[in-house]
Amino acid sequence: MLSKTMEKAINDQIKWEYYSAYLYLSLSAYFMNLGLPGFANWMDVQFQEEQFHARRMFDYVNSKGARVLLQAIDAPENTWKSPLEAFQFALNHEYQVTGRINDLVTLAQKENDHASAIFLQWFVTEQVEEEANFGDTVNKLKLVGDGGGLFMLDRELATRVYTQPAIAAA
Ligand code: FEO
Repeated sequence: MLSKTMEKAINDQIKWEYYSAYLYLSLSAYFMNLGLPGFANWMDVQFQEEQFHARRMFDYVNSKGARVLLQAIDAPENTWKSPLEAFQFALNHEYQVTGRINDLVTLAQKENDHASAIFLQWFVTEQVEEEANFGDTVNKLKLVGDGGGLFMLDRELATRVYTQPAIAAA
């Protein structure tokens, strides 16, 4: 079972993960429109990753005999001034997600809910990787500026492929 507080908190996070997916799909559309298909591909892969995050939480709530209640997803941002501003926006969003995951872990500990705390550890580790991935591209964008390096970076980002993480059952 899950406490009502934890059930509500994970349901809220499911919405956030789907919002993240929606935001990255919006960024993919932005980059496609700019003529940067590699950047668009990278964001599309991230869109898929976020749906997987939401699905993991969805399955966990169900596995605990609790109730998933899907919520309305807000419209994402859709306009940025530059690729750098767009990626920095995404990185800042991931910092917020990390804060939310940390709050969930703290809540699980407060509620003496060890199963949820262990389940959430995967997300704690995942956020380290996500921040590093976004941060890496932010740094590269700062180095290349608006010149031809942008197209080389676009080719690099085009190689990202979505692979669903292999994970043990929650
Ligand atoms: Fe689901 Fe990008 O955190």
